[in-house]
Amino acid sequence: MDAGKDYEVKDIKLAEQGLKNLELAEARMGALLEVRKRFAKEKPLKGVRVGMALHVTKETAILVRTLRAGGAEVAITGCNPLSTQDDVAAALAKEGVRVWAYKGESTEDYYRYLGRVIAFRPQVTIDDGCDLVSEIHKKHPDLIKEIVGGCEETTTGIIRLHAMEKDNALKYPVVAVNDNKTKHLLDNYYGTGQSTLDGIMRASNILFAGKSVVVCGYGSCGKGVSLKAKGLGANVIVTEVDAFRALQAALDGFRVMKLDNAARIGDVFITLTGNKSVIALKHMKLMKDTALLANSGHFDAEIDVAALRKAATATRRMRPFLDEYVLGGKRLYLAGEGRLVNLAAAEGHPSEVMSTSFCGQALAVEHLVKNKAALPKAGGGSMVITLPKGIDDEIARLQLTAMGVRFDELTAEPVGDLPFAVDVVLVADVDDALARGLAYRVLKISLPSVLAERVYVLQELLVVSRAVMAVARLEALLKVAVELFGTLHQSSLHRTLQSLSVLSPYKLFSHSCFFPGRVARILVNCSVKYVR
Ligand SMILES: NC(=O)c1ccc[n+]([C@@H]2O[C@H](COP(=O)([O-])OP(=O)(O)OC[C@H]3O[C@@H](n4cnc5c(N)ncnc54)[C@H](O)[C@@H]3O)[C@@H](O)[C@H]2O)c1
Repeated sequence: MDAGKDYEVKDIKLAEQGLKNLELAEARMGALLEVRKRFAKEKPLKGVRVGMALHVTKETAILVRTLRAGGAEVAITGCNPLSTQDDVAAALAKEGVRVWAYKGESTEDYYRYLGRVIAFRPQVTIDDGCDLVSEIHKKHPDLIKEIVGGCEETTTGIIRLHAMEKDNALKYPVVAVNDNKTKHLLDNYYGTGQSTLDGIMRASNILFAGKSVVVCGYGSCGKGVSLKAKGLGANVIVTEVDAFRALQAALDGFRVMKLDNAARIGDVFITLTGNKSVIALKHMKLMKDTALLANSGHFDAEIDVAALRKAATATRRMRPFLDEYVLGGKRLYLAGEGRLVNLAAAEGHPSEVMSTSFCGQALAVEHLVKNKAALPKAGGGSMVITLPKGIDDEIARLQLTAMGVRFDELTAEPVGDLPFAVDVVLVADVDDALARGLAYRVLKISLPSVLAERVYVLQELLVVSRAVMAVARLEALLKVAVELFGTLHQSSLHRTLQSLSVLSPYKLFSHSCFFPGRVARILVNCSVKYVR
């Protein structure tokens, strides 16, 4: 291990290779680079201490560079003992980032390193799995008063945050970055879909074609894995506990059955549920000789490895990240020790998909810092918050531009009662929003030509909203909007205004109304941004 004042990594000499990998990642993370360019100019995170517990991969390093370009000071450790890329950790240390991580960390080191990040007294936390938030709340509650907020990357972390929130135990607001469309519908789906199979292939080099692959869990990750496995020629079987998801799997053309039945048929088993003991010893006992097991869910609790270890009559490491267990005379192979196989045995998600995920992280940190005063306080509303929809759209747009993809705008007049959306984005600093393309884009995309003449009206509205600082003003503004838009259904307006009075300026709300005699349904999405 190489240790310096502010780092502990496997081998600092790996930095040269790490820097090359960062260069490769950067070339495929166009959207994040755009955010970085703006951050470098505007320095929205000047002097903010950001503590991170994220997989230390080349893509995460580009996020670190982005946050630093915005003026943040960063300290980072891993969020899984097997996911750190040692060359990347070394490169970060070389760049002067506080970094404590190595691949294959002991449990003791894992928590010691989290402690180092906590000792840095972060003002914003970024987590993948909620360990940092959890450690701070359990062992260092005194630090919470300095913390503006946190950002959570993954489904399992968000489940843990909601559980804390339910117990009134979550004491600072956390952005559920995973809930961005540009995160879970891309990263979990395309990223986990591809990299999970990549991990299994690197660990075992099996041929997927012709294999019966059992995918446990048909969420965003399970859908991605099923689709990619099918693409490789596998016969995919899905197991689910949720009726709707099971139905989706069946309608997507996969066989759906109980794991008790699938256990006898499968050649490969992949868990992606976020749940515990999904594959229990009783299932393993039913499996065929040479069946392969892998997990790509966040924690290594989805396959009951402890029970397998105990029951096995022999165990061998066959090659890196592939262990053989002899159970009842049959050989079972476990990839990546039952930890996230895509990060343990491969490199995690490809850079392109992490580009949009990490735009979400970078913009979430900016959102927290810029809106510090308006964020929910403990006991004062939901503490797990989502980013305004406009940010998600902005990320998709940035990535499309980076990929050189152009797409259409809605121009044709709506037919019949085709619904369309008008997003009224209320901003305190209109010039800033327009300069950043935020408000303009929202208007331009949302309005079909039939309402094109109203664009200027909305722009006027935005100018009016320059003065908006509080919910009371928002109410007045909505009334203006109503007059400008014409006939708005009075009772639904009333409901909206009523709900406004109980909303914090931070909440998003939607308002649907009809234009009698007009063809369209209008959905007004109001969100207050940059309220200072
Ligand atoms: N490997 C990675 O890089 C990576 C990336 C993103 C998310 N994740 C993790 O993957 C896991 C799944 O994420 P997601 O976004 O797909 O979650 P999700 O909540 O959308 O889907 C999980 C699905 O599993 C089902 N499920 C729960 N228990 C089950 C059981 N015993 N048997 C069968 N199905 C069961 C649920 O009904 C649900 O449909 C989470 O732990 C998440 O944190 C991993």
